[in-house]
Amino acid sequence: MITNQNYLPSAGRYDTMLYQRCGKSGLKLPIISLGLWHNFGGVTVYENSRMMVRKAFDLGITHFDLANNYGPPPGSAEENFGRILKADFLNYRDEMIISTKAGYNMWPGPYGDWGSKKYLVASLDQSLKRLGLDYVDIFYHHRPDPETPLEETMSALDLIVRQGKALYIGLSNYKPDEAKKAIKILKELGSPCVIHQPSYSMFNRWIEAELLDLLEENGVGCIAFSPLAKGILTDRYLNGIPADSRAASSSIFLQPEDITEEKLVKIRRLDELAKSRGQSLAQLALAWVLRRGRVTSALIGASKVSQIEDCVGVINRLEFSDEELNLIEDILK
Ligand SMILES: NC(=O)c1ccc[n+]([C@@H]2O[C@H](COP(=O)([O-])OP(=O)(O)OC[C@H]3O[C@@H](n4cnc5c(N)ncnc54)[C@H](OP(=O)(O)O)[C@@H]3O)[C@@H](O)[C@H]2O)c1
Repeated sequence: MITNQNYLPSAGRYDTMLYQRCGKSGLKLPIISLGLWHNFGGVTVYENSRMMVRKAFDLGITHFDLANNYGPPPGSAEENFGRILKADFLNYRDEMIISTKAGYNMWPGPYGDWGSKKYLVASLDQSLKRLGLDYVDIFYHHRPDPETPLEETMSALDLIVRQGKALYIGLSNYKPDEAKKAIKILKELGSPCVIHQPSYSMFNRWIEAELLDLLEENGVGCIAFSPLAKGILTDRYLNGIPADSRAASSSIFLQPEDITEEKLVKIRRLDELAKSRGQSLAQLALAWVLRRGRVTSALIGASKVSQIEDCVGVINRLEFSDEELNLIEDILK
């Protein structure tokens, strides 16, 4: 239990974190951002979630990423984050970048999913209520909708910005051809796409083929989600599956069978390399995602305060030699 109700953030919170410009926008993001997909919902211990948000902020993490459906149950991560904001961060709203999203199933009937204007506007209004905020900093369309005209989805995002309910627009999980069209429409509407949120890690390199070039050409930032492959690219599973890990939990997003022997062989070798560089495997994985400066921020998840501290330690060793990069290619082959 936290006894000190009056949270005073660390005075040194901006001393060591690095901030990168998000594409060609005015927005800067910390190189490590914290996502609230797991471990912040109604089924988790509130005080642990609260301590993680406090620790992140103390370490210079200014960006917190949510979505309408984060929980479980859906909506509860936003509710809990709203509670934490009210308890600890009322004086610090202007130091925070808070994002949310809509695009996955949220409520019954034809208006609670995908990408219609009806769904996006209603969903953000619900999110703002749960968060206790007047506006979010970034509002994302969470995934492309194959049926709704892209013009409608983009004009809903433009409307939301014009209404002042979000400052910046983001896209998530859009493939290069979809992103290209959406970015063009948003530019024409006068509310540019500021950020794209794709998955990216040593084990998941799809954005390297086309998407990163497209984003750079269009001045759009990139925040990479699941940079630790949901925990696989850490020391978590080096010696079996811990009882308190995501793979052992009821989350359907990481199952014990995802921790394959093939991956274990790789992470053991990567762990050796990390040790030779004087860093943890998680830090190595994050430094690698950030290695060319094309990814604005690595969007981590965490279940413990100590994991956030460890991840932020990446700032002590970001650079790679050519030999190290070649060795990583060899290991990942
Ligand atoms: N846009 C989208 O469609 C989408 C999809 C997925 C995620 N996201 C965003 O990305 C965020 C991050 O996703 P993610 O949680 O899958 O990211 P991740 O960073 O790849 O994995 C996080 C997990 O790794 C483990 N971990 C973290 N730091 C560690 C450390 N230093 N040492 C050992 N283990 C460590 C923890 O596992 P344990 O829990 O087992 O301790 C933690 O829950 C989400 O919260 C969400 O904001 C977006």
